[in-house]
Amino acid sequence: MTNEIQTALITGGNGNLGRLVGAQLLQRGVKVVKFDIPGTEPAQLHDNETVVIGDMRDQAALQDLLKQHKPDAIYHLASLLSGSSAADHRAAWDINATGSFNLLQLAAENNVNRFFFASTNASYGGEVADPLPETFEQWPENIYGATKVAVERLGVFYKQTHGLDFRILRFPLVISPFAPTTAVTAFPSHAFGAAIRGESFTFPASAECGMSTIFLDDVISSIVDYTHAPKSNLSQHAYNLHAYHLTTQMVIDEILKRYPDFNYDFKINNTVQTLIDNWPNVLIDQSARDDWGWQPKYDFAQSAEKMFDMIS
Ligand SMILES: NC(=O)c1ccc[n+]([C@@H]2O[C@H](COP(=O)([O-])OP(=O)(O)OC[C@H]3O[C@@H](n4cnc5c(N)ncnc54)[C@H](O)[C@@H]3O)[C@@H](O)[C@H]2O)c1
Repeated sequence: MTNEIQTALITGGNGNLGRLVGAQLLQRGVKVVKFDIPGTEPAQLHDNETVVIGDMRDQAALQDLLKQHKPDAIYHLASLLSGSSAADHRAAWDINATGSFNLLQLAAENNVNRFFFASTNASYGGEVADPLPETFEQWPENIYGATKVAVERLGVFYKQTHGLDFRILRFPLVISPFAPTTAVTAFPSHAFGAAIRGESFTFPASAECGMSTIFLDDVISSIVDYTHAPKSNLSQHAYNLHAYHLTTQMVIDEILKRYPDFNYDFKINNTVQTLIDNWPNVLIDQSARDDWGWQPKYDFAQSAEKMFDMIS
């Protein structure tokens, strides 16, 4: 069977990762259909790209989407993120879990071949081993993580019962110029923005605390590479990714190299501090390296360089 994808449906296609995954797929000659909520429409469309506006909670809309566009691959990125999920548990379950169930069921009924799902290291619980072994049990302590584990298990069920080529990546913290301001744990990304704008920045977590981290460009290329890897190479349902261990102090040091007058202080937010203290510093990602050649291109200094270029 060929690894090439003809038509890809990207749910959450107008989001931060969806836009960039879409752009890479278009470059590979893939026809891209993006599904996202009202208010997210892009200003311009590529010739080979379609945007459909709808909601993951609307089963009939999902059905029409698959019937009309007949994707052979789905990149399922639509989700409430951790903060919005914590603020509305019902919406988180309806969108992230039930919406995903409906999409998986429809994918199985409509001959979709490949189904990619974006999961997270928030799917692990508070007390985790560090470095985190690939086989570590997932017992998340927040609703966002619980919905992600539910979909991981559902997808594997559809893989085993319907032959769906279901593939999962679990990402650590992402350094990105597009990190939403509401994402409190994304403060390393926000600090770069503040420094470039000449603003002072208050760090919500201590200088020495840190976590496993990855740069945005490595997230995007990992998704595209992984979803094009031959099925026969993949020994795992899900792969953890890790690029580097990042501490608050490393962020400060890198910013000060470029902006020596960067003004900062600390006001510890216990929720953020506890979350990060509980996240692993290192995730073992050997299977991804062995099976489909995962290799981060960005260390932290290179990520910082690219952040400065992209934001300024
Ligand atoms: N960026 C990260 O740090 C990170 C880390 C781990 C996992 N992920 C996962 O990657 C995926 C993409 O994340 P992102 O950073 O691009 O976030 P994002 O918020 O930019 O993208 C999510 C998209 O989903 C859409 N969406 C939300 N509710 C919807 C609904 N009811 N119906 C249809 N679309 C809906 C949003 O409008 C948005 O465009 C998510 O599943 C997220 O959980 C992201």
